[in-house]
Amino acid sequence: MPSITYIQPNGKALTINAPVGQSLMQSAVDGGVEGILGTCGGGCSCGTCHVQIADEWMGRVGRAHCMEKEVLALVDYLAPNSRLSCQIRMTDDLDGLVVSVPGD
Ligand code: FES
Repeated sequence: MPSITYIQPNGKALTINAPVGQSLMQSAVDGGVEGILGTCGGGCSCGTCHVQIADEWMGRVGRAHCMEKEVLALVDYLAPNSRLSCQIRMTDDLDGLVVSVPGD
């Protein structure tokens, strides 16, 4: 099962194994990652699943799509590598992915 490492707002890393096809948001919520709420349940409308992708992974994860960009425009800590984690599905190719959860 592929793994994701979340760098939480408190600076602590949390690595979670996630089934292929599951969203990063759901993995984070299930795993108790600090700062990921997933309030809209993955509907791409709340922005409470904002993550920043480590630079070396941007090529594989890809950039936000049109509707996702509209929601991202409303979040704090917006950066060029920002994504909504509910819009990223785990694949074997993303095994070892590192993302940061922005926040204080
Ligand atoms: S869970 Fe609401 S936008 Fe991702």
